[in-house]
Amino acid sequence: MLRRPLGDSGLEVSAIALGTWAAGGTVETWGHVDDRESVATIHQAIDCGINLIDTAPIYGLGHAEEIVGKAIRGRRDDVILATKCGLLFPRSKDEWPPRSLSPQRIVAECEKSLRRLRTDVIDLYQCHWPDPEVPIRETMEALAHLRDQGKIRAIGVSNFSCEQIALAREFGPLHAVQPPFSMLHLRAANDLIPYCQESNLAVLPYSSLSKGLLTGKFTAQDTFEDVRARDPEFLGNRYLRNLRVVERLSEIASRYDKTVAQLAINWTVDYPGVTAPLVGAKRPSQLLEIVGGVGWSLSDGDRAEIDTILRI
Ligand SMILES: NC(=O)c1ccc[n+]([C@@H]2O[C@H](COP(=O)([O-])OP(=O)(O)OC[C@H]3O[C@@H](n4cnc5c(N)ncnc54)[C@H](OP(=O)(O)O)[C@@H]3O)[C@@H](O)[C@H]2O)c1
Repeated sequence: MLRRPLGDSGLEVSAIALGTWAAGGTVETWGHVDDRESVATIHQAIDCGINLIDTAPIYGLGHAEEIVGKAIRGRRDDVILATKCGLLFPRSKDEWPPRSLSPQRIVAECEKSLRRLRTDVIDLYQCHWPDPEVPIRETMEALAHLRDQGKIRAIGVSNFSCEQIALAREFGPLHAVQPPFSMLHLRAANDLIPYCQESNLAVLPYSSLSKGLLTGKFTAQDTFEDVRARDPEFLGNRYLRNLRVVERLSEIASRYDKTVAQLAINWTVDYPGVTAPLVGAKRPSQLLEIVGGVGWSLSDGDRAEIDTILRI
């Protein structure tokens, strides 16, 4: 598996990363997920040469981190472990998680994540969402202090705008950025990815399969009860437009004897400025399909055709 630098952190990550949101297993996000399947998927990823595993305390309120900790026992050295801070656990399943990037909160969360992950160092520690209530100077200084103490190795932010990233960098080291980005969700291509490329920041796009839309398995008749039910990409005319795009992309994938999911991963991995897309495979079989997304190249002609299709 191709490896790429994680900004100037000195760490090298695989060109595909495994995301573990679904391993949290809560019914209101991804439905029931079997822990043994989650562990097997992580093992499969490592066996395929994927070393970057992304998780967060909020995924299943600690459960996903515990699953990752369990899965990497005895294989810690094969893994670049990424987790996050800054979202408090909601009091009810209908409440959106409150944000807090205060230094006290970050230090306390880091200790809990280290315990759940059964490790003494987190390789990449990321602010999950910006917190407008806390000056970013305080957040960045707290993260730099954790790094000086050897509890984290690299620092990242997720869901930050270019302006928020530029401000954060004034107050401490920053190595990676995690934005939403896929063939169906291109906003980060406008300014964020070029900014990161110029600034030597790693870009780790999330929902790179658009929550499964880019696997081509959905139809206009499908309805959703999990996290997809609240996602605008799965609603009304936007959903129908996405299905049309995926159908056209499938035709191009078949020219290479690949699936549309493999085409989507290939395109994202090769997108200028992208370091490693995060893919939320839930089972080993899903992961194996995804891995077939690297190791081959699209022709210039097909790239141009894809650009046209994505503008539909
Ligand atoms: N920083 C943030 O705010 C943030 C937000 C979202 C995600 N993330 C990270 O990014 C990761 C990936 O994003 P994501 O989980 O939202 O979405 P994703 O990777 O775009 O899609 C994941 C879903 O696609 C389906 N899938 C994956 N591989 C498949 C295959 N080969 N065949 C058929 N279906 C397949 C599975 O759903 P089903 O089997 O249920 O259909 C899976 O749960 C997360 O796990 C998390 O680590 C971060």
